[in-house]
Amino acid sequence: PQNVGIVALDVYFPATSVLQDALEDFDGASKGKYTIGLGQDRLAFCSDLEDVISMSLTVVQSLLHKYNVKPSQIGRLEVGSETVVDKSKSIKTWIMQLFEKSGNTDIEGVDSTNACYGGTAALLNCMNWVESTAWDGRFGLVVAADSAVYAEGAARPTGGAGAVAMLIGPNAPLVMERKYTGTHMTHVYDFYKPKLASEYPVVDGKLSQTCYLKALDICYGRLCEKFEKAEGKPFSLSEADFVVCHSPYNKLVQKSFGRLVYNDFLRQASYLEATALAALEPFRNVGMEESYSNRDLEKISQQVGKPLYATKVEPATLIPKQVGNMYCASLYGGLVSLLHQKAGALEGKRTLMFSYGSGLASTLFSIRFREGEGHFTMSRISSALDVANKIQSFITVSPEEFEKTMKIMETRYGANDFKPVAKMSNIRPGTFFLIGVDALYRRSYDVK
Ligand code: ACO
Repeated sequence: PQNVGIVALDVYFPATSVLQDALEDFDGASKGKYTIGLGQDRLAFCSDLEDVISMSLTVVQSLLHKYNVKPSQIGRLEVGSETVVDKSKSIKTWIMQLFEKSGNTDIEGVDSTNACYGGTAALLNCMNWVESTAWDGRFGLVVAADSAVYAEGAARPTGGAGAVAMLIGPNAPLVMERKYTGTHMTHVYDFYKPKLASEYPVVDGKLSQTCYLKALDICYGRLCEKFEKAEGKPFSLSEADFVVCHSPYNKLVQKSFGRLVYNDFLRQASYLEATALAALEPFRNVGMEESYSNRDLEKISQQVGKPLYATKVEPATLIPKQVGNMYCASLYGGLVSLLHQKAGALEGKRTLMFSYGSGLASTLFSIRFREGEGHFTMSRISSALDVANKIQSFITVSPEEFEKTMKIMETRYGANDFKPVAKMSNIRPGTFFLIGVDALYRRSYDVK
């Protein structure tokens, strides 16, 4: 098959949200810490009517409907999530409800879990299937979904929730350039969920930031090497029109782009002009290990990269800044933002995609855009995503209400025999919601 990649995609995030500005006041944080310091505008969250299963059902149903895809056309369904609900029972089996009715139970794939990386693992699995001898001509379907919640404290404002569904097949408008990838995986305890009775992770925030930036450096170096081998010319940011990064919070994405510019400087990229070279020269021999804690380097490389950040990175930051960290869906929420913000202007362009999941697993890969032909085109995707409406229909609640919901959710996690108490007016029409959990912990859902 030719031009294998993403042929269609859709995004979902809860309407219930809280403004970061109001959270700063409520938490007694210094003014600007969340909005400027973390770079976040808003945080979307699930009330007890919603969870990772309902969000997955909502986004898959919406994708099939909008692009007029029949359930029988799906041959593989892979879910990436780190939100644990039934532990041994996958989220994928829940989504099968949408396919069983049509008689299609012949669908391979289950869930992939490793912090925020699961969605990328699911995407790569579907890509491998379509490109393999096992492929039967049907589409692969990837779902990346998470509810990201943290215990009270510094990490809480970096929560979020959402789901992205992606249809995988040939003749795609978003072609995966599979030769140009860089992967780095290793063992580290920066973020993990050892307390099975709690939805909250144990997180070493500072360590996770450094691990993320190191992983980016290593993946970038590997991608550059592969590109150079295949193309016979060096890779640099001038080969990438856009860069989409996993976004735990926007400030880390700003820092990431600074790192890429610093990498390019060390790799003697030709696009860097005299003033940029002079500004970065004092940091040439800092040494990789020390470079992560060098605040001057961090500041200067971000300053040097600022004009490029505006054109290459900013368009992909809309949903991540408005919704917060959607864990597995975060990177793909960035991709959706780019498709929305640059609709009609992506033909022939390339974006880098950086996926990071703590623990850790990371991959940097490349997508090339083309308008495409027939049923699945870039124009169709841009209008189907309907991003502006989704953002306009946010319901803004007070920080008190947000905190109250977090407390309720703590009692819901792992619980049985309850019905949600949240108001139905908190969810948009067409959204799946939890009806209740029975004495045997069995969940049931309906659509509004
Ligand atoms: N105005 C402007 N900026 C401010 C203000 C203010 N009033 N106050 C603080 N800041 C800045 C800080 O200088 C800092 O920015 P910098 O890093 O550029 O210097 C930023 O705001 C955050 O302040 P910190 O004091 O570093 O924040 P804190 O340590 O309280 O928490 C953290 C931040 C560690 C990110 C925390 O939210 C966390 O643990 N989050 C979860 C982990 C995470 O997301 N890790 C990322 C990768 S792993 C993953 O995806 C889950």
